This record gives sequence, C-alpha cells and structure tokens, in this order.
Amino acid sequence: MYTQAKSNNESKPITLTTLARMKADKVKIACLTAYDASFAALVDEAGIDVVLVGDSLGNVIQGHATTVPVTVDDIVYHTKLVARGLKRAFLIADMPFLSYPTPALALANAGRLMQEGGAKMVKLEGSGHQADIVRYLAENGVPVCAHLGLRPQFVHKLGGYMVQGRQAKAAKQMLDDAQLLEKAGADLILLELVPTDLAAKIAAKVEVPVIGIGAGPKVDGQILVLYDMLDITPGRKPKFVRNFMADGGTLSEAVAAYIKAVRNRSYPAAEHSFD
Ligand code: KIV
Repeated sequence: MYTQAKSNNESKPITLTTLARMKADKVKIACLTAYDASFAALVDEAGIDVVLVGDSLGNVIQGHATTVPVTVDDIVYHTKLVARGLKRAFLIADMPFLSYPTPALALANAGRLMQEGGAKMVKLEGSGHQADIVRYLAENGVPVCAHLGLRPQFVHKLGGYMVQGRQAKAAKQMLDDAQLLEKAGADLILLELVPTDLAAKIAAKVEVPVIGIGAGPKVDGQILVLYDMLDITPGRKPKFVRNFMADGGTLSEAVAAYIKAVRNRSYPAAEHSFD
C-alpha cells in the first residue's frame, strides 16, 4: 500500500489542560483504544479526544485469554505505531502487568513508553498501595492515569471479571483510593465496572477528569475497546459494550456515532450500566 497518512483534522492537539477544561465545561470526553497506525488515524480523524494503547491488545490482537502475558516491549511497539497515526488525540499507553512493582522500575518502564513509544501519559492499574509509585512518576514529569475498579491484570487474584465497589466498605475504599491517588499526582482516573452512583460520587469528589468503562453515564468521559464497539472481538461482549456498527455504515461513521453518543449522553444508557 503506497499511502501517506493524510488528515483533515487540523485542530489543536489535545493536552491535559484541554481535558481538565472539558471536565470544567461539562463536555464529555470521548476515548477509544487503538493498536496500529491505520485505526489511530481513523479515530483521530473522526475527532476522538483520547487514544489508549491498552494492554487489552493481549486479548484482541494477540488472542490471549487475559492481559497478563503482555510485555513492556509489546506496548512500546504498538504505542509507536499508534503515535504515527495521530495528529490531535491525547495518547496514553498502558503499563503492563508487573511493570511497576517499585517506583524505580515504574519510572524506567514509563520512560520507555514515553521516549520510545511517544505516549503522553501512562496508565497503571492502581489502588492506594500505588500512591508512592504515582507520586514518583508525577514528580519526574510522567503524567499518570490511575485505573480503579475492575483491574483486569488482577484477574487471577480476583477470580474473575466482576463489578467492583458494590459493598459499602469496598465503595468507600475506592473513593478514598481515588482521592489519595489524585493527591499523589494522578492527572486522570479511569473506573472500570463500577456502579453508576459510586462512579458519579468519585467524579464529583476529585478534580481530575474521570473516564468510565462500565461505570455509567455520570462521569466525565467514556472509553471502550475499539474492537468491541466495532463488533470485531469474537464471543460474548460485556453488558456495557454497544455495537456502533449495528446501524450500518462505515468504520468512520461508527466511530463518529460513538463520539456523538458520548457527547450527547445517549451512551452509556441504563442497559450498559450497573446499579
Ligand atoms: O487495556 C485496556 O484497553 C483498558 C480499557 C479497558 C480501559 O484498560
């Protein structure tokens, strides 16, 4: 294929300041995962705000049952590909399983994702226990997204993929962790599989934007795995996924429909959320 990435999307690149302003202005932030340059260009052109090179690539690209086998080299490689396709969207790369057990190792691996991969932020699956790591990264100029709620890297410890924070004690712990991680320097919080009311409470209590996946509509933005919303992923999809290809049309139209639905709050609806 003798093609050169070409974009009509000439608006200014999204930064953390843009995302903070969107939260303040109550404009919902639309995010998707991507793993290669072509899809990155397609979602960027459609106007997506944030692209995540998720370790979900272990599932949807590599065909593993979990994200546990994904390595730092894998994420660096896919982040490089995605960075080449983006003009405007803010690029986040996932820290894979066991790549952030200590502040020093976390910094070395986050450095690779930013310097070799071109990421502008790293995401780690955290809890209050990761506060020192988040602080160390932030102090060294690494923007951090803290992923709370269901943390798929912990699947073998949890015994499955289930909604988190349903009991009062666990809900309070998650709220405390979100505040602690924000204080430690996290610039973004991602909540996965969290009841709507708890997610809303966390989004109201922290100043940084809160992005949800299976966390209901009352957060500052939404993210989905690109292959799920395009109905490419084989097998049964989680309840929170909506197939944006269902109405027909092109891939670009499906991504545009997703962005529109996030912005006008029609996605996620009650049937995609947990009480
Ligand atoms: O790895 C990933 O794609 C993620 C999303 C599920 C948010 O963390």
